[in-house]
Formats: sequence, C-alpha cells, structure tokens
Amino acid sequence: MGAILEIADLKQLARRRVPKMFFDYADSGSWSETTYRANSEEFRQIKLRQRVAVDISERSLKTALLGQETAMPVALAPVGLTGMQHADGEILAARAAADFGVPFSMSMFSICSIETVAQATKRPFWFQLYMMRDRGFVGDIIDRAKAAGCSALVATVDLQMLGQRHKDLRNRLSAPPRLTPKHIWQVVTRPAWAFEMLRCKNRTFGNVVGHAKGVSDLSSLSAWTAEQLDLSLSWKDIEWVKQRWGGPMIVKGILDVRDGQSAIDCGADAISVSNHGGRQLDGAPSSISVLPEIVDALGSKVEIHMDGGVRSGQDVLKALCLGAKGVHIGRAYIFGLGAMGQAGVKHALEIIAKELDMTMALCGERNVTELSELNLYFGTRPGRTAGVLAALGEEYA
Ligand code: GLV
Repeated sequence: MGAILEIADLKQLARRRVPKMFFDYADSGSWSETTYRANSEEFRQIKLRQRVAVDISERSLKTALLGQETAMPVALAPVGLTGMQHADGEILAARAAADFGVPFSMSMFSICSIETVAQATKRPFWFQLYMMRDRGFVGDIIDRAKAAGCSALVATVDLQMLGQRHKDLRNRLSAPPRLTPKHIWQVVTRPAWAFEMLRCKNRTFGNVVGHAKGVSDLSSLSAWTAEQLDLSLSWKDIEWVKQRWGGPMIVKGILDVRDGQSAIDCGADAISVSNHGGRQLDGAPSSISVLPEIVDALGSKVEIHMDGGVRSGQDVLKALCLGAKGVHIGRAYIFGLGAMGQAGVKHALEIIAKELDMTMALCGERNVTELSELNLYFGTRPGRTAGVLAALGEEYA
C-alpha cells in the first residue's frame, strides 16, 4: 500500500492484519447499523465557511479537558477488547496518547488490566466504568483506578444491556478466540498478529478475571455483560459512583437534555454526547445532530464532549464549531493500532491533528478554542442544515 494519508488507509491495513472477528467487533454497529453509518454521514453534510487574507502564520491546537492540558481537543475513547486489535494494545495506545499529549481512556472491558497499563506508562489515563450488579466489584475497581493514578472516570450509562451486533454473533466473538477450525483459520491467516499475541501475556479481560465473582463465561463479552451489568442502574448509582471516586467524572452516553441535566445533578464534571458509536440503540440520532441542542441547554453549566463517527480532523473541527470542548475518537485510533501498533496510533493522531490544523487555517482561524458556528456554512438560508445546526445569530444575518 502507498502513503498513509487518512484514517481510511489505516482501516484498510487493519483489515489485513487483524483477525476478522476482532476487526468486525470494532467496525460494527447494532442491528441495521443505521445509527453507526449516520454518525459519519451526518458529519459530511456539514459545510465549512472559508475565509481568506487572515494572518494564519501562528496557530494553536492546544486546549484543556477537565482542567488538564492537551495537545489538541481530542481524547482516545474507551474501546472494549483493545488488546485484541494488537497484542498489549491498551499499553501501546496509552503510550502513543501520552507521547502525543492527549488523554487515553481505558475501557473496563480491556484486555490489559488497569495495573498493567499504569505500570507500563507514565502519564495518568482515564478509566471507563460500567455499573455491574456486584457493587463490591464496582467499588473495588473504582479504588483500583484511584490507586493506579487515573485522572478521570468515564461513567458510561448507555450499555446496561449490550446492543445486538450481528457480526459478533455470527463470528462467535470471544477473547481469547475459540479453538474451532473457523476461528483458528482467522488467526493463522494473520501471522504477525498471532506471533505477537503468543508472546504477550494479556489475552482475556484483565480488569475482570480474578476480580469478578460468579461469572460463568468470562471470555464471552455478551455472556458476562448479560449476567453482570445492572439493569436497575439509576442516577442515584451515578451519584454514589461520583462520591466513591471523588475526582473528575465524565458521564458518557447522553443524547437527551434531561439525562444531561441528571448527570450534572449527580456531579458530572463533563458529559459526553454519545450513542456508543452506533453500537447500542440503532435508530437513535447521530451524535453530531444532537450536540447543538445539548450545548444550547447545558453548555453554560458543564463541559461537553462528544463521540461517534469522527474519522478526520475536519470532523473534530465541526464538533468544536457546534460547541463540543472535547472530541473522543474510537475506531479512528483502533484502526491505527490494528494496522501498526503504537506507531499506527501515533500516525492516526498525527493525521487528525494535521487535518484539524489545516482546516482551521483554511477557515481563517488560528486558535482551536475560538471556533464557533460562524465557521460553518449554511447556504443561502440561515438556519439548521439537515436538522443539525442551531439558528444563526444576528451577527451573521
Ligand atoms: C463495549 O463498550 C462495546 O461497545 O462493545
């Protein structure tokens, strides 16, 4: 393959390097995948406003998320089974993020444990939490994240029931893979992946194995989430999580203003507008289409992040123009990891940063913290484009 210029190039490489069941796990949404596709498609419908003859010689992508300085307004989103995209994937991604100067969020459904990643990295990372039935386990894992020096907790509230992903069911996904002819074939046809995986020690859910009690099949995400995730989750539990954690908390999975307000009432320091990458409620709106109404209602009260469908620095810029302070990327870095390990994650971050910087410059802007809806183009009619954009202000008419 020629030069790697965009995230799509990394995706193509990852497809060739990662066993099908794990590539598919990342590249899938639930049911018809309508929301999964809408996340990216609706970014493409948003147009940018070009401005010229502005001095763009000095530019900055720097900002702060939850009061912590970042090289750009981007964080690596929590992604389950990251360590199955590449051996020791969580360690490699956390190192790439630390070198670049952006936060890494570790999924609770990681292959490497919190402690393993903390020992192998220097910069504190964020830890993602799901509410399980076993409150003892939840309390312990919060304490483990604290002890490991994690700098924020990402409480994810939209996956008490795992969305049905047809590819995973057809692939009979598990970590480690089953020893059936089909699964062995998927692995042996990816020899570099298999070789590295054999050399590393982390091959199943490291945060859970040896810590969670009474789970019958730990290798199957769908089986143990069905057994262990707490369907009775309520805002009271999130309040308890915040108290037990005591540090900065992002509540992730908000698509409704009322839920965003409840998260704020529970002490959220940030909320993340997210449909879980189209992996949960298929038929829900794209994250970018909901962002403006959440920003309008809650933007003055809380820091707002978003994720879903972000595959370029242009997408990041559009989300910032619509009021997000931070943008989380999941698949965009996972494809880099699958393609080339740590170097691939670095490459993904460099691609996003370059696209963000060039787009900002061509919009006639110099500072990523000063982007606004005025950098978007609405055609001849001021107002919302494709139901996405909030009405323009006086300044624009
Ligand atoms: C877990 O977070 C998943 O979406 O599979």
